[in-house]
Amino acid sequence: MPDLVLEVRGVDKIYGEAETAIYALKNVSFSVKKGEFILIVGSSGSGKSTLLNMIGLLDRPTNGKVFIDGLDTSTLNDNQISSFRNSKLGFIFQFSNLLADLTVLENVVLPRRIQKTDTNAVEEAKLLLKTVGLESQMNKYSNKVSGGQAQRVAICRSLINKPTIVLADEPTGNLDSVSAETTVQLMKSLNRKLGHTFIVVTHDRQQFGDVDKVITIRDGKIIEDEITEIPTIT
Ligand SMILES: Nc1ncnc2c1ncn2[C@@H]1O[C@H](COP(=O)(O)OP(=O)(O)O)[C@@H](O)[C@H]1O
Ligand SMILES: [Mg+2]
Repeated sequence: MPDLVLEVRGVDKIYGEAETAIYALKNVSFSVKKGEFILIVGSSGSGKSTLLNMIGLLDRPTNGKVFIDGLDTSTLNDNQISSFRNSKLGFIFQFSNLLADLTVLENVVLPRRIQKTDTNAVEEAKLLLKTVGLESQMNKYSNKVSGGQAQRVAICRSLINKPTIVLADEPTGNLDSVSAETTVQLMKSLNRKLGHTFIVVTHDRQQFGDVDKVITIRDGKIIEDEITEIPTIT
């Protein structure tokens, strides 16, 4: 099935042991096709970040498997995981986590330098920054731009390695409503334009409008796997 970029199969995550064990995920299974825009919603403590951490290979499931691009990621050792993560996955967090002593442009290029694939990286980074309307901010230090602009830089950084999947954990959680709206619209238009798959954790489902699928988690379990209208691409 070449068009499946992600398959989560029977994933449990248990933190701690015995009486203090917390069952953060219970038998979670779903799959995602290339180019889909998926939301993961649920109340605080339901297991959204834990699930995103499993998909992002930031932590391993207690039981079950995560397949990315058809590869069983449980077969990778820690070094292989780091390299696989950097090349196949892009991350956007609630706080943009930019490096303050680098410029906007340097922050976007950084994942390519780490991956040692920096040929054309500067040109590609400039193009991405132009797409999100930050052409004029490129050479500023990243602590000199606004919160909304910083999140747009983080979006560019997440895309510079042309990842198979972009993972975002509450990307608008720290933004005012106008910046939040801009961030949502940018992610959606980049998804349509560049075809990257997006999996976004949010507590504000309405903010995102039409998406391909909404996965609702409660107490570590998927309670609803609702397929919504796929918007017509114009
Ligand atoms: N590293 C951890 N150690 C122990 N418990 C954790 C850890 N991370 C999360 N949890 C617990 O797992 C459950 C799910 O947390 P989380 O995935 O952060 O939820 P959400 O992102 O939906 O708010 C919560 O009960 C939380 O307290
Ligand atoms: Mg969370």
